[in-house]
Amino acid sequence: MIKESIITEQGIILNIDVLHKDPTKKMPVFYNPVMKSNRNISVLLLNSVSNKNMNCAFPLAGSGIRPLRFLKELKKSKIDTIFVNDKKADFVTMFNNNLTLNKITKTNSIKICTDDANNFLLNQHTDDFCGYFDYIDIDPFGTPNPFISAAVSQIKRHGILAITATDTAALTGTYPRVTKRKYWATSSKNYMMHETGLRVLIRKVQLQGIQFDKALAPLLSYHKDHYFRVYFKHENGKEKCDKIIKQHHYLLYCSTCLNHTISRFNREICSCGTQFSFMGPLWTGKLFDSKLITSMAKNNPFPEEQKFLDILKEESTKDVVGFYDLHIIEKKYKFPVGKMEPALKTLDAVRTHFSLTGIKTDINIKEIIKLLQ
Ligand SMILES: C[S@@+](CC[C@H](N)C(=O)[O-])C[C@H]1O[C@@H](n2cnc3c(N)ncnc32)[C@H](O)[C@@H]1O
Ligand SMILES: [Zn+2]
Repeated sequence: MIKESIITEQGIILNIDVLHKDPTKKMPVFYNPVMKSNRNISVLLLNSVSNKNMNCAFPLAGSGIRPLRFLKELKKSKIDTIFVNDKKADFVTMFNNNLTLNKITKTNSIKICTDDANNFLLNQHTDDFCGYFDYIDIDPFGTPNPFISAAVSQIKRHGILAITATDTAALTGTYPRVTKRKYWATSSKNYMMHETGLRVLIRKVQLQGIQFDKALAPLLSYHKDHYFRVYFKHENGKEKCDKIIKQHHYLLYCSTCLNHTISRFNREICSCGTQFSFMGPLWTGKLFDSKLITSMAKNNPFPEEQKFLDILKEESTKDVVGFYDLHIIEKKYKFPVGKMEPALKTLDAVRTHFSLTGIKTDINIKEIIKLLQ
């Protein structure tokens, strides 16, 4: 049943037609309350970086809630022009109505389009505008794949490219052939699958940047609820691209002794004698800019995000590939590993947002077992 509804999020009012069911593609206008956290963090991130006077593009704007929030919540110096787009036929009328409802004056610095997202991204060159953006937000249904190439080609130097992927099954190895086709890599359904899915996604986007000599390094990357989210900072240059490629490796995992390691090769034998299983190729560099996440956790205005940001901040201090899971260690080695806090101290480890019982440490599994026993 379609009903006109008033929705509020962080002081923004939306008057939209919604289906009174779970958010789906069939909704007349797409609005997903679960993604409020995703939007909160995007507002906080842009208020925490030094970028100013940004031309921001929202090719898949949906209800337009994110650009409306940017207009209200970003510091005045942040935005030059906002370009919003969605292919839904009445998008322009709906967005204009919501601007009025929120008492935001429609000026030349707000451009509203209804086009295919790729056409929109590639065709904004005018006498007044170079056509390249300082911030692009790709927020699709499922995979971001159809939009990555255009987004990467239109992101400006020092610009930020934000990408959401909700096709978690494809990225975490539920359908290995889909992972191969869509993400040019192998994932595996083990306890690290959310980290490996995130790193597989990062490498796929980076490869598409590299073809244009654009180096895309993650500023912040995470998995939450049912989605992955990565903010890339773009730098130009062949050397920077070469540096990125050098950090594309395999993650090897031994299900017998729980050892893991990164390697240029995908067929290796663990020191316990078992053949490693492999995931990747994937990004083995940093997931976080630790200064940025520290500042975000400190200046966060959204209480509901604080716990999550604090974990990301802690995790950024040991930004290594892969993690160990205390429950899995306990089950496999059949001894009680005790509580999280003492284990973190003993193992010089930090918590990880990928799992409630997960820990990140530089210490290898043999040493971990010795220390925990
Ligand atoms: C997940 S929703 C966007 C949600 C929105 N960013 C938010 O924060 O609420 C995806 C949107 O992309 C639009 N869309 C899908 N394919 C598109 C395309 N090829 N070009 C333009 N818009 C498209 C859909 O109409 C839908 O509104
Ligand atoms: Zn082993």
